[in-house]
Amino acid sequence: MGRSIANKTVAAVGLGCMGMSEFYGDRNDPESLKTLHAALDMGYNHFDTADMYGAGHNEELVGQFAKELGSKRDDVVIASKFGIRRDPNDKYNLIIDNTKAYVKAACEASLKRLNVETIDIYYMHRRNANTPIEEPMEALAELVKEGKIKSIGLSEVSIETLERASKVHHVEALQSEYSLWSRDVEQTILPACKALGTNFVAYSPLGRGFLTGGITKADIQQADVNKDFRAKLPRFQEENIVKNLELVAKVQELSKELNCTPAQLSLAWLLKQYDNLHVIPGTKRVKYLGDNFGALQVDLSPKIITTLSSIFSSDNIYGARYPQAILDGTNL
Ligand SMILES: NC(=O)c1ccc[n+]([C@@H]2O[C@H](COP(=O)([O-])OP(=O)(O)OC[C@H]3O[C@@H](n4cnc5c(N)ncnc54)[C@H](OP(=O)(O)O)[C@@H]3O)[C@@H](O)[C@H]2O)c1
Repeated sequence: MGRSIANKTVAAVGLGCMGMSEFYGDRNDPESLKTLHAALDMGYNHFDTADMYGAGHNEELVGQFAKELGSKRDDVVIASKFGIRRDPNDKYNLIIDNTKAYVKAACEASLKRLNVETIDIYYMHRRNANTPIEEPMEALAELVKEGKIKSIGLSEVSIETLERASKVHHVEALQSEYSLWSRDVEQTILPACKALGTNFVAYSPLGRGFLTGGITKADIQQADVNKDFRAKLPRFQEENIVKNLELVAKVQELSKELNCTPAQLSLAWLLKQYDNLHVIPGTKRVKYLGDNFGALQVDLSPKIITTLSSIFSSDNIYGARYPQAILDGTNL
């Protein structure tokens, strides 16, 4: 299933690279590089990174891969993001900078780490409400003119921001969290994207791995919060995770009936929500690539889509997707 984005036709299932550097346990660079190449061989051609993942480490990894791509570079979409500075004293404190000078400097640094001449989609990772959206958008429009980026993306913004930004320059992609258990964008952002001809890129489409059925309460209880971000998220906490696991059991049951996997069911459900929607499931392991890419072969009936939507109605989900301090930095 090819879908167009940043003037390229790519598979609707891309690869999220964040976990190769941090947030979901330990790094393993050789295995991550192997995963990037195996993904390419399988048909993945949309790779998503950001300057803040591992404080530059993730872009360097993707940059190593980009160097090894040779002439295949033109066939793939490499997307990155700017706008979050890391606080050296607090791993999870996000300092948002959307100033023009920062946009320009961040882009130069990303181009170097990524070993590319142009970034296919360059997203503003988070919005700082004190900086009018026109300021970073004008800087991004200049970067497009200079050929340093091919297209502009925004992440976790409100409809108002998307509409104002679109008056400065076309927004090619909006990236926000969207999965069976995170559906805030459905009534708001998705219709706005459709109206503006903006692609939607669903991040954490597997619910940070939860919807695959591969995560237990014990996994989270035993996780080191400095290495596994999930241990900080409300919906993975104690009573919440127990309730939420009941929903995952239903996905497991349904996927058995349909002869697919829970990951495929979750991704295939998303791909039915909008013709210009891309999913970027993340993994650092070769072993999950085929499972996720296989979602492209799963065609869900309207009845199954409705069933899944009602199992995962927002009333049935326990706990917020982020802690309040991080939620406060979204939808601005
Ligand atoms: N714009 C934003 O603010 C933002 C925020 C978060 C993420 N993102 C982007 O979105 C991408 C995807 O999101 P995500 O990585 O947070 O969450 P995700 O794709 O929902 O889940 C990733 C987790 O699921 C596990 N997994 C993947 N495929 C699996 C399978 N088939 N079976 C069992 N487990 C599987 C991975 O395991 P392993 O860790 O063992 O590989 C990883 O721990 C990121 O990589 C990043 O590029 C963007």
